[in-house]
Amino acid sequence: MSVQIDHLLHESRRFPPSPEFAASSVATESLYTDAAADRLGFWAEQARDLLHWHKPFTRTLDWTNPPFAKWFDDGELNVAYNCLDRHVLAGNGDRIALHWEGEPGDSRAISYAQLTTEVKRAANVLLGLGVRAGDRVAIYLPMIPEAVVAMLAVARIGAVHSVIFGGFSAESLRSRIDDAEAVVVITADGGYRKGRATPLKPAVDAALASGDSSVHTVLVVERTGGDVEWNERDKWWHEELAGVSDEHEAQPFPAENPLFILYTSGTTGKPKGILHTSGGYLTQVAFTHKNVFDLKPEKDVFWCTADVGWITGHSYVVYGPLANGATQVLYEGTPDTPHPGRWWEIIEKYKVSILYTAPTAIRTFMKIGRQEPQKFDLTSLRLLGSVGEPINPEAWMWYREVIGNQLTPVVDTWWQTETGAIMISALPGLTEAKPGAAQVAIPGVSIDVIGEDGEHVGHGNGGLLVVTEPWPSMLRGIWGDPERYIETYWEKFQDAPNGPLYFAGDGARLDRDGDIWLLGRVDDVMNVSGHRLSTAEIESSLVAHGVVAEAAVVGAHDDTTGQAVVAFVIIKYSQTDAASHADISAVLRAHVTLQIGAIARPREIHIVTELPKTRSGKIMRRLLRDVAEGREIGDTTTLADTSIMQIISASMR
Ligand code: PRX
Repeated sequence: MSVQIDHLLHESRRFPPSPEFAASSVATESLYTDAAADRLGFWAEQARDLLHWHKPFTRTLDWTNPPFAKWFDDGELNVAYNCLDRHVLAGNGDRIALHWEGEPGDSRAISYAQLTTEVKRAANVLLGLGVRAGDRVAIYLPMIPEAVVAMLAVARIGAVHSVIFGGFSAESLRSRIDDAEAVVVITADGGYRKGRATPLKPAVDAALASGDSSVHTVLVVERTGGDVEWNERDKWWHEELAGVSDEHEAQPFPAENPLFILYTSGTTGKPKGILHTSGGYLTQVAFTHKNVFDLKPEKDVFWCTADVGWITGHSYVVYGPLANGATQVLYEGTPDTPHPGRWWEIIEKYKVSILYTAPTAIRTFMKIGRQEPQKFDLTSLRLLGSVGEPINPEAWMWYREVIGNQLTPVVDTWWQTETGAIMISALPGLTEAKPGAAQVAIPGVSIDVIGEDGEHVGHGNGGLLVVTEPWPSMLRGIWGDPERYIETYWEKFQDAPNGPLYFAGDGARLDRDGDIWLLGRVDDVMNVSGHRLSTAEIESSLVAHGVVAEAAVVGAHDDTTGQAVVAFVIIKYSQTDAASHADISAVLRAHVTLQIGAIARPREIHIVTELPKTRSGKIMRRLLRDVAEGREIGDTTTLADTSIMQIISASMR
């Protein structure tokens, strides 16, 4: 970490916006000054300007019972109406909402009017199935327009969606369905990935096979036309939509009505259901989408490459862009199918002007080389964004130079599933950019970097990132577990003089100008390709396999994915002769894939005879990380048996 910090401190390249970009910037300096003068008044104004309220709010923030916040809570709105109907009513019904591109090359252009009609039908279907405000609907779909329709239809009737990334296994799906007690699942026969039709419905069938779940209906979108097993609870999406009216009047719901639950990994084995509500969430995603991406909805074509199964897809594929009436690209498949220039081809085809993606993708493209993007016309691009993990200055430079034609601003945006929307980012027409730094809190958000003692670290120093004031799109809790919400985020700095501070779990450093540089997680959460995984969750999965006696998992540096999963396992004595280490590793990697999903599959599994532990029995993952990253092993004096690390290192050579 210290090498990395030194490197960052010597990063002195600066990129001010071009005079042309600055001159037409959507954001102006007054955002900062207004927010500094009256933070709550600023957010109230944004909420009124950016959204349609069926019933205007009179209260901005209720923070009388921290850490449980209420924003705009006596106001009423309909989230889907804000993303759809109002644009049609304003005369923009013909504007394209989605340029959808399927992996095999099929495509659909869907206008705001068409999307509104689809969502109305889907809302009528859900109502017909007995789904009511507050009920939970699980969505397990590929990146097809129906994913957006399904989310908005659930929102339209005041119900709560829980989108589960299509790469998660049947078991992960089941635990999320159970935790949220979902009544309906919306899935597809399959989707296209890496040139193949990949089935999706079998995972839903397996998840619900025992017959004792809360789910009464499974709606199945036909995408690939592959064979599917059919159960009594299954209904075809297209048949149901064809059988209902396309009239549906959006009803208002309270600003604090739950909008969605999204599961994310924490430091323990069980994923947390992060709960977001309506008015505050929509305000901040619309505000950040407009100002961080300098959005001009009548001209821009926006493309956020995230899957809707993650928070980035929720906030910057669905809610932010649609609330702002933007035109965007939605792509089903992988970046390298059928050829390594696929993304660049899509940018050329749709004249994408704003691209938002993750450092892991940028590093992959760097490895492939600039000849691929250079085959395509990327001159439509005028702004680039990054999210998900720290972007190393070299990747930032490559992104700007090769993809952005040495011209476009690059915004590095820091935020989390929990924060709901962007919290730290340059504003591209205002900020002088520094490669590798997220830089400044957005207007209206209060961030600090503090030491373990709770004191501000001062310029030039590192510490822990905290949010010092409640913000509109903040999580409202962990589904069904208020205690865990308090413990995870608020207990560490609960006695701060101005109320509890939100502890994000990230380390950060302030440079000499006071700009923020993110340094990665400080807890047992890994970041693989911008996706969060918990060491404990993968360890539990490994230990659940019959051959494993004990397991420890660490996130080790990886040039492409940021971090990679590296596991150390002790095999049960009875199993040690049964199979070769290579066979056991292969079996365990497949086992984790089946239990959690392919994103959690360990890059390496090392079979060891002992694990390094303190006298109190705690596994010292720090030392295992040293081994996994090929570093000299750090301080071992607190180990119960100091010779262990030599044995482990020796066994790995
Ligand atoms: O460690 C930070 C990292 O991703 C974590 C949040 O993960 P998740 O909830 O899955 O959301 C990812 C997309 C918003 C953070 O705690 N992270 C996210 N963005 C950045 C980042 N780290 C450094 N720089 C970023 N721009």
